[in-house]
Amino acid sequence: MENALSKKDATVKNCRNNYLLPLLFLISFSATVLIMPAAARATADMELPETSYGMENTAFKILVVYATRAGSTAEVADAIGKKLAQSGVAVDVKPLRNVQTLNGYQAVVLGSAIRRCAVLPELTDFVKTYKDELSKIPTADFIVCMIVREDTEKNRKTAVSYLDPLRAEVVPVDTGIFAGKLDYSKLGFIDAIIIKYFIGTPEGDLRDWQKINDWAADLLPKLQNINKAK
Ligand SMILES: Cc1cc2nc3c(=O)[nH]c(=O)nc-3n(C[C@H](O)[C@H](O)[C@H](O)COP(=O)(O)O)c2cc1C
Repeated sequence: MENALSKKDATVKNCRNNYLLPLLFLISFSATVLIMPAAARATADMELPETSYGMENTAFKILVVYATRAGSTAEVADAIGKKLAQSGVAVDVKPLRNVQTLNGYQAVVLGSAIRRCAVLPELTDFVKTYKDELSKIPTADFIVCMIVREDTEKNRKTAVSYLDPLRAEVVPVDTGIFAGKLDYSKLGFIDAIIIKYFIGTPEGDLRDWQKINDWAADLLPKLQNINKAK
């Protein structure tokens, strides 16, 4: 067991090391030439979609909250919310920065893009902040990442390990692992160089909408069957 855990730690550590050297090199390079990448500014200012689906007065209301950098996770979250609502529940899909309370929700779906072998830090902080509330209601989580562009067991295992920091806080009823989208033109200068020249992940939109919709369609019974409330 201990061996398996340290093997998993080593996989994530190796993955992070892939980013470390190019990152250090690029940070010093950009500091030298004083580049404030336009794309990075665009990400910070990006308008993040927030939508409500279903009838407001249903007894079961779900929050789908997401963290994104380039926007592809927002579209996945929206598809999940839309599909969940087709089963007759009310759903709010919100970017993490717009969530002030979990009051009024009977279940929460947490979604994140993956960057540098980890869920986005704001989602981990969110889960820590709302740990008590989230422990009392059913939760599910999903990630959008490029490692599963080749859907092998090894890659899926690595992808699942990205969620360990969240699972240490709250145990989900189900987890969705989805291939994402990479568009170099939407990345900040440093990220674009690392991904393009050092990591070598190819551009493309690999989101499998059928798979995403199927996962969401099967999710509601799992969220409703679990009653964590004491
Ligand atoms: C700088 C950077 C680092 C990334 N690191 C990883 C990674 O470690 N593992 C992975 O599977 N995908 C990685 N990806 C791919 C993203 O998770 C994928 O493009 C995702 O769709 C991005 O979601 P977003 O558009 O919501 O930001 C990385 C992408 C970028 C730009």
